Formats: sequence, structure tokens, C-alpha cells
Amino acid sequence: MKKSLLKSKLKKIFLKNKLSKNHAEICSNYLVKAEILEAKGHGLARLKMYCDRIKAKVINPKPKIKIKKISSSISYINADNSIGYVSADIGIKQAIKNAKKTGIGLVAIKKSGHYGLSSFYAEQAVNNKLMVFCFTNAPAALAPYGAKKSLFGTNPICFGVPTGKVPFIYDASTSIINRGTIRRAEKLGLKIPYGVALNKKGKITTNAKEALAGTQLPIADFKGSGLAWMVDILSGVFTGSSHGGKIKDPFDDFSGPQNMGHLFITINPKIFIGNKFVKEMQKNIKLVKKLPKAKGFSNILYPGERKNKAYKKNLNKDISIPAKILKEMDELNA
Ligand SMILES: NC(=O)c1ccc[n+]([C@@H]2O[C@H](COP(=O)([O-])OP(=O)(O)OC[C@H]3O[C@@H](n4cnc5c(N)ncnc54)[C@H](O)[C@@H]3O)[C@@H](O)[C@H]2O)c1
Repeated sequence: MKKSLLKSKLKKIFLKNKLSKNHAEICSNYLVKAEILEAKGHGLARLKMYCDRIKAKVINPKPKIKIKKISSSISYINADNSIGYVSADIGIKQAIKNAKKTGIGLVAIKKSGHYGLSSFYAEQAVNNKLMVFCFTNAPAALAPYGAKKSLFGTNPICFGVPTGKVPFIYDASTSIINRGTIRRAEKLGLKIPYGVALNKKGKITTNAKEALAGTQLPIADFKGSGLAWMVDILSGVFTGSSHGGKIKDPFDDFSGPQNMGHLFITINPKIFIGNKFVKEMQKNIKLVKKLPKAKGFSNILYPGERKNKAYKKNLNKDISIPAKILKEMDELNA
């Protein structure tokens, strides 16, 4: 489907679900961007879920988002149970403003929901010549190291830096694969890779439904579990949001709002070494890239390069949408 047509269909669906014009535009843009970036688990496969949650009154389509100024660097946002895209979009713009003023911005967001890819927000800070960390917690999907039951979300860690060229953006779940990919596989009847999730009995499964009922595996055992825990503290405990496995699953739990938390930290990278920063960054990347290559590698990529290539490759292409999701969109538009 042409991107312009897809965007207008999405906007119509969000408007029908009582979002303001501005918020419908923000949500449609991020959903289409996830598709262009080939992050399909965070794209159209989630549209019906957002609409179902609005209908169930657990997402507020007309949130009164409040920004409390704590200092010139620090802001605290109450998202009033908005769709995560909306509050995160406001939050990163505030964090950029704060860092431009003082050198560092710290923005905490509470009462939010799923916001898609952390890189959406990191990229905005990097385009403003800032270094950035983005954190969000997520519904229980990983068993803490040594536990039998899921509690941490797939809690991504995101770090962005301007390079003067393609931005360096590391954006990764603390699980081996992200949950959106498993959700989408379940919806479309696809298998998931071997070794990324266990079923309820603790056995490795490639069945998406069994994986969702069981537990996903963290990256690098106790190290990944520790990082997921860190993200839960930063974006849950610290921001006054739900944490410790209390974030509601957006697909399965309609008993109340998600109350997810996000934390954005923006930093002017020139505060210590001034204009030399970008030059030193480029030197740093060059030193890595010119290393002798391991077998099967012709290039060493830095985080963000692959996504940037995908974006450029797909930008002028139509978006392919599976029949099942097209049907959902038609029903939501009816
Ligand atoms: N909102 C939420 O609740 C939530 C929860 C979990 C994940 N997410 C999002 O899901 C997305 C996907 O996460 P993921 O873990 O599947 O990411 P991924 O495995 O696709 O990529 C992880 C990181 O590795 C880098 N990378 C990939 N291939 C590389 C290569 N060959 N060489 C060097 N670097 C490479 C990527 O640029 C990226 O920064 C992220 O954007 C994350 O923010 C969101």
C-alpha cells in the first residue's frame, strides 16, 4: 500500500477513536515509521490493540498531559494514560529543549503506555546534535535470573550519539528477541527462532503462543537479567510508574491502564571537549571499522547503520501488509 494512503487510513482510524488531529498524526507517523524500518512487531500488528484499549477506556484518547518543571534541566510528565507515542513525543522534545538550555536534560514520564521503538525518540535528540539515553519498561516477559516466572519486561536500552554521518543508535531489548516479533508471529501463525523462549514447562519452544504463555530468555543470562532490572528501576521505580511485573500486558490485560514509565536523558556531547567531539567520534568509528574482519564479514557495522540502510531502501517503496492485518484495518475503518 502507498504510504500516503496508509497514513490517511490510520489517521481516520485514530480520529474515529476520538484522538485529536495532532495526536492521530503523531501515532500514524510512528506506526508507518516502524513498518519502513522493518520493525513490523511494533507496526500495524499493534493497531487493533490500541483501538481495543481505547474502547475499553484503558487508553485515554483525550489525555490532559501535564509537564512539571523541576529545574531548567529536569521535567516530570504525567501522561494521563495517553498512547505512549504521544507522551514520548512530548517528552523527548522537552528533554531536547532542556539539554539545549543547560547541557543536560532529564525527563521522566509516568502513566504512559507502549511507545514503539526507543530509536524514534533517540533519533530526534541526535538530529539536534545531542547524545541520548532512552529507557522504557514493558509487561512481564522475562524471568529474572534464578526465577521460574516472568516479571521483567523486554525492557530496551537505547543510546544515541551524533557522528556527523549516520547516527550511532544502539537500541536493543534485554530479551534475545523483542516481544512484538513473537506477538506478530502468533497473529500470523509463524514460528519463532529456536532458543529464544521457553514454554510453561520450561522447555525451549518455537511456537509463538506457547512462548507468550511461557517466558522469553534474556540476552547473556544473568547479565541481561541485570540490565532488564536496571531499566525497570530507571523507568518504573524512579518515574513513579508501575514496576516489578505490574505493567499490564496491552494485548491480554484490559483491567486498567498500563501505567508504563519512560526516562529520557539528553546530553550536549560538547560539554567537555567542545567541537572536537564529532571528530573524535569519527576517529573512534574508523578505528573499529578498519580492524581485520572475522570470517563471513566484509564490513563492521555500528549500531544504527543497518536500520538506516533499511530506512533508505524502503522509503520510496509501498508497504506490504499481510491480509489478516488489512482485514483488521478495514474493520476498524468501517
Ligand atoms: N516499547 C517497548 O515496550 C519495547 C520493548 C522492547 C523492545 N522495544 C523496541 O524493539 C526494537 C527492537 O529491539 P531488538 O532487540 O529486536 O533489536 P535488534 O536486535 O534488531 O537490534 C539491536 C541493536 O543491534 C544493532 N545491530 C543489529 N544488527 C547489527 C549488526 N550486524 N552489527 C552491528 N549492530 C547491529 C541495531 O542497530 C540495534 O541497535 C527496539 O527498537 C526497541 O526499542 C520496545
